[in-house]
Amino acid sequence: MIPAEDLQCLKVIALQGGCKGPVFVSSQSMGEKLAISQQTASRRLKGLESQGLITRTIAADGQHITLSRAGEEELRKEYQDFCRIFSERGKGYILSGSVVSGIGEGKYYMSLEPYKQQFKTLLGFEPYPGTLNIRLTSSSLPVRKKIDALDWTRIKGFTTDGRTFGDAKCLPCRIGIIPCGIVMPGRTHYPEDIIEVIAPMALRRKLGVEDTDAVTVEVGND
Ligand SMILES: Cc1cc2nc3c(=O)[nH]c(=O)nc-3n(C[C@H](O)[C@H](O)[C@H](O)COP(=O)(O)O)c2cc1C
Repeated sequence: MIPAEDLQCLKVIALQGGCKGPVFVSSQSMGEKLAISQQTASRRLKGLESQGLITRTIAADGQHITLSRAGEEELRKEYQDFCRIFSERGKGYILSGSVVSGIGEGKYYMSLEPYKQQFKTLLGFEPYPGTLNIRLTSSSLPVRKKIDALDWTRIKGFTTDGRTFGDAKCLPCRIGIIPCGIVMPGRTHYPEDIIEVIAPMALRRKLGVEDTDAVTVEVGND
């Protein structure tokens, strides 16, 4: 493995086209791109050449540089690491927290047919009328923010008997092997560290959990 600063330098050259053929580089411009001095940039380019990672011909005001096969190989290894980091398999999120009681309002809303139908279509199961409230640990709060950017499905509000019910959004998830959904009602009175989870059955009973017991919710990674 080559030092990270050499890899950065190879990347800058490659971004200019240095894998395909010679590109014009001055140590001044290289220094600016890497936020290092011109002298350091010049030393770094020399170092890359002596390691066989680039070939270069010196011109009056700079140099023409091409990445060697070995140089390109180093970048490719880095690329593969990033593929592993950002691959579909690595896209799972884990939210940990503990069970907290609500006042039972979730049960009322989850019993309403228009909501029920939409959840069934989205999640593939008829949700149990009730929500399991989970207070997230502080270390799960950044994860909670990340999942905001995922592909939530809108659950449309409706009006019946002169009463308006608001929109919600839902994201499929799992608790262990149980398929579940995180529900975020548009008008919830809960703070950000509480999530509501729905499932095909009464989760408290199925999981054998009560208030303060730990629960882990997984999103993605299917
Ligand atoms: C599908 C769904 C729709 C909801 N729609 C509304 C709504 O229209 N207006 C509202 O004040 N709260 C709505 N809520 C939120 C509840 O008021 C409340 O935040 C939550 O479900 C609390 O449940 P709990 O008391 O069982 O913990 C909705 C909740 C769910 C699950």
